[in-house]
Amino acid sequence: MTRHIPVLLREVMEGLYLKKGAVVVDATLGGGGHTREILKRVLPGGTVIAIDADLSSLESFRTLAQTDDLFCQALREKALVLVHKNYSCLGEVLENESIESVDAILADLGFSSDQIEAGDRGFSFSQSGPLDMRLNQETKLTAGEIINTFSLEKIASILREYGDESESRRIASAIVSVRGEKPFTTTDELRESIEKVYPKGKRQRMKIHPATQTFQALRIAVNQEPEHLEQFLRQAVERLKTGGRVAVITFHSGEDRIVKQFFKKQAMGCVCPPGFPVCRCGNEPKIKILTKKPIIPTDEEVKNNPRARSAKLRIAEKL
Ligand SMILES: C[S@@+](CC[C@H](N)C(=O)[O-])C[C@H]1O[C@@H](n2cnc3c(N)ncnc32)[C@H](O)[C@@H]1O
Repeated sequence: MTRHIPVLLREVMEGLYLKKGAVVVDATLGGGGHTREILKRVLPGGTVIAIDADLSSLESFRTLAQTDDLFCQALREKALVLVHKNYSCLGEVLENESIESVDAILADLGFSSDQIEAGDRGFSFSQSGPLDMRLNQETKLTAGEIINTFSLEKIASILREYGDESESRRIASAIVSVRGEKPFTTTDELRESIEKVYPKGKRQRMKIHPATQTFQALRIAVNQEPEHLEQFLRQAVERLKTGGRVAVITFHSGEDRIVKQFFKKQAMGCVCPPGFPVCRCGNEPKIKILTKKPIIPTDEEVKNNPRARSAKLRIAEKL
């Protein structure tokens, strides 16, 4: 197992501005890289509620934690609480822990290197595996079901909307024609069908593999990522204490757009039309945006951890 390298670690820690005794949610525990740095800053006296929707991720973390003194002690003293849930259930998670509000919340979206590289999950076109892509094995929809049963139009719209795939219709049409002969079962079969859609010359000019955007789009659709992110953001702002901070790291333009627009709306006061003599909407700004432009990794970070190249960090403070 490779160990996932936390992205924008210094920038997140500076941005969250944590103090001893703080109560913090790490909504995406993964390999615990960010959680570890948070614990260093909030202990003694603080608590970290660390959430992950992927049971195997949590299990790997538990194994790793046994060899790490800081994690062992924090788990023993219940200063680190692990929760298997989708971050879209943040409110429920905090209610179960009898926590009303928190000082800081972090979400480092997407998947860890370990998950992507585990062929049996089906996340990567470069690893042979089943067309699964479910983050949580308790959910029903798989990538295979989308590929083998959704209409051509629906597949094309998923690829366009979630993958920005310019060849969405041609790929969807190739998928429908191949599955007419035999249903898709593996990532290899899907990758090969996508490769055939791109003429060799175009493929050679591309900076990314032609299957990159299709695999990303399917993963987003299978795990209902935009819906869960919006639900999470709403609850995060509600559950922050005044002066508390929320930091979100995204890895593709669709995710970043959701965070940017959500922050903008929450930071806005009155939304009455300009002609209104007095405010009728009664909207008060709920947050202050601390990152006018998203923070991106330094060249050095990208050199050391190429996975960081598309990361964008946005931070807001509760008013
Ligand atoms: C990029 S990794 C986090 C890495 C972590 N910050 C670290 O430093 O090791 C994202 C993690 O979030 C989890 N995850 C993704 N979507 C989730 C969701 N909707 N709810 C809860 N966890 C989620 C994934 O299972 C994965 O373990």
